[in-house]
Amino acid sequence: MSELAAKINRLKKEKNAVILAHCYQNAEIDEVADFVGDSLYLSQMAANTDADIIVFAGVYFMAQTAKILSPDKKVLLPRVEAGCAMADMINLEQLRNFKAKNPGIPVVCYINSTAEVKSECDICCTSSNALKIVESLKAPKVLFLPDQYLGKWVESKLDVVEVITYNGYCPIHHRIFAEDVQKARKDYPDAKILTHPECRKEVTELSDYVGSTTGIMKYASESSTKNFVIATEKGVVDRLRRDCPEKNFVLIKENLLCDSMKCTTLDDIYNALLNEKYEITVDKELSEKALSCIDRMLEVSK
Ligand code: 13P
Ligand code: SF4
Repeated sequence: MSELAAKINRLKKEKNAVILAHCYQNAEIDEVADFVGDSLYLSQMAANTDADIIVFAGVYFMAQTAKILSPDKKVLLPRVEAGCAMADMINLEQLRNFKAKNPGIPVVCYINSTAEVKSECDICCTSSNALKIVESLKAPKVLFLPDQYLGKWVESKLDVVEVITYNGYCPIHHRIFAEDVQKARKDYPDAKILTHPECRKEVTELSDYVGSTTGIMKYASESSTKNFVIATEKGVVDRLRRDCPEKNFVLIKENLLCDSMKCTTLDDIYNALLNEKYEITVDKELSEKALSCIDRMLEVSK
């Protein structure tokens, strides 16, 4: 273990802190992380921890969600500027307009959204439980935001639900096209193509498996297949290469990097713990409203 990682671990103990890290983070963060996983797993961990401090190695909406779930704990985001471009694609006014155009329809929001947006939606979801959440509503139509692709992927899996989507997307997954999948099939004919549902419809349709970041990692590690092409952010490939050295993993195209996810370093985590920065706060009334949206999701996902 590096000296810096050892220092972080000592500080963590002294301050009764826990470190949560998303799978897209730089793999070096795993050395100090208590929990590494996808958005659903991390929000479950944030809701259940006994720690006094939660350090979130992730992006703003993740730390904000942790604060909403554990309002009495100190939640720190090591790089306060680490936002999510998709979450920023819809604000409260845009949400209200979307709802006004489609009145009387239940609203599902992806966890990649702000607390303000969550506070006026019926239920939240992540990429690993979106299907289950939409099904649980037992409604013929649902509104889904901000990610149009996750929403339409859910619709394609359910015969009886019309999913009306907002037009948001993740700029990183949006860069993957059908031609990239076709090229990968040609270049790696024995490989399975594993894809995140934030990808375009034509990309998920051409893939062998579609799932969350941890869904992809679980599929790859349990599969008897040896070669894989991965269509999501590079962090997943880095972890797979480290965890399954006997298998081959190729990122579907170059530069699939989320700058916000990649900006956090071990130094930032050390400084965050040492100086207890940057503390994330959420207005009490807003937090309570957003909590019911997240709690409903956690209840359905038990
Ligand atoms: P997961 O739900 O797979 O963690 O993906 C969330 C995400 O968008 C991270 O960018
Ligand atoms: Fe947001 Fe996309 Fe980055 Fe995930 S990868 S945090 S959805 S911008």
